[in-house]
Amino acid sequence: MATPKRSLSQVQARIGASHGITDLSQKIHFYDGWASDYDQDVAVLDYRAPRLAVDCLASAFPSSPQEALLLDVACGTGLVAVELQKRGFCNLHGIEGSKSMLELAKRRGLYQQLSLCVLGPEPLPAPADHYDAVMVVGALSDGQVPCNAVSELLRVTKPGGLLCLTTRSNPSNLPYKEALEAELTRLEQAGEWKRVQVHTVDQWELATSEQETAGSSSSSPAFISGVIYLYCKQEAPPAKARGN
Ligand SMILES: C[S@@+](CC[C@H](N)C(=O)[O-])C[C@H]1O[C@@H](n2cnc3c(N)ncnc32)[C@H](O)[C@@H]1O
Repeated sequence: MATPKRSLSQVQARIGASHGITDLSQKIHFYDGWASDYDQDVAVLDYRAPRLAVDCLASAFPSSPQEALLLDVACGTGLVAVELQKRGFCNLHGIEGSKSMLELAKRRGLYQQLSLCVLGPEPLPAPADHYDAVMVVGALSDGQVPCNAVSELLRVTKPGGLLCLTTRSNPSNLPYKEALEAELTRLEQAGEWKRVQVHTVDQWELATSEQETAGSSSSSPAFISGVIYLYCKQEAPPAKARGN
């Protein structure tokens, strides 16, 4: 059973501490311990990423959502699936590194397939060119999904499929964000995908501390901003064009 709802300052302290964990196995361990309170804590923090990311994907989706097969990477307890289902995306697979978070996602009953997988050290449990869209919401930061795992997201996406990724723009996440954007650009220059849109959102979630609002234009209660990146995987060039 979930513990009673925590105050904003309690939630800020817990999540603020998690931002300082930069080791992946320690971070997964943190999520194992947080799982049962996760949904109510992120509601206190006014965490909007799942809805905003799904809105962005849905607005650019080129075909019927009912027909599409989507992968939710680092799906947590399944908040992204809740939003996807509201917009008609019902064929959902998920992967998650924390057993406890994965168990809660299973209980939601919105995914047809869920796998325990720590992306980075492990590949995604899917063949190449498999999904119409791949999402990573709230898990692109230090100690979570490493930037060099983005090419693995691309591998499992169908040519012409969409990838929707999010990250935070608060000061402590800026070095990761910069490294992520360098990797996104590198893949675009290599002809792997094309940028569809990059959307900055001022009110992403409430800040966990005053330092985290540095540079933000938000007034009290202070929000941090975040970014949604939407990319389209390119069709493989014909063998001739590749020089084979
Ligand atoms: C902030 S939660 C986001 C969960 C969900 N996407 C949402 O928006 O509510 C981050 C999740 O990513 C998972 N995670 C972090 N790094 C991961 C990795 N490398 N592979 C798989 N899961 C990971 C954590 O266990 C946690 O459940």
